Amino acid sequence: MILDIVQYGHPVLRQKCRNVTEVDDQIVQLVADMLETMVDANGVGLAAPQVGVDLRLAVIDVSHDPECISFLKVNGEDADLESIMPLVFINPELAYSEEKESGTEGCLSIRGIRAEVRRPAAVRATLPQLDGSVLEIETDGLLARALQHEIDHLNGVLFVDRLAPVAKVSMKNRLKRLLGQNGQG
Ligand code: NI
Repeated sequence: MILDIVQYGHPVLRQKCRNVTEVDDQIVQLVADMLETMVDANGVGLAAPQVGVDLRLAVIDVSHDPECISFLKVNGEDADLESIMPLVFINPELAYSEEKESGTEGCLSIRGIRAEVRRPAAVRATLPQLDGSVLEIETDGLLARALQHEIDHLNGVLFVDRLAPVAKVSMKNRLKRLLGQNGQG
């Protein structure tokens, strides 16, 4: 089932989400619906709060572009991007490289706005799976960016919070207009 995507201004997007403590039928159904919703919206990632659920759960699929990363290790071994896509995880943990990189981001909850965001270039993500196993993923490029963006959602952080100070000022009015459109201004 395709779910409604919560839009900028909704309080659930600012919540620090709760850990998933039990993977029951409801969670399995939620994940299936989130995957369907992400595909329908042409997104590369979707976090549970974006469909109104304050749980530490997200889905990512960057397999449309195999060149979007320069390396990928899964549990310490070199791996193909397709082998882990779509990526579903709960209760993630992230470690970051010191090196940073700029890239363009958008968000399904902030329609019509894209901007440059500077973030750590590479990550090591510990990603518990629905079946109880754990994927440890080391990567860079778009997958590293998507992991950081989605995990930010689980902490109530949006990409527009991470703009450079000058860009933030010029973004302010666009966001205000968006709040008006979303009926929350
Ligand atoms: Ni987003």
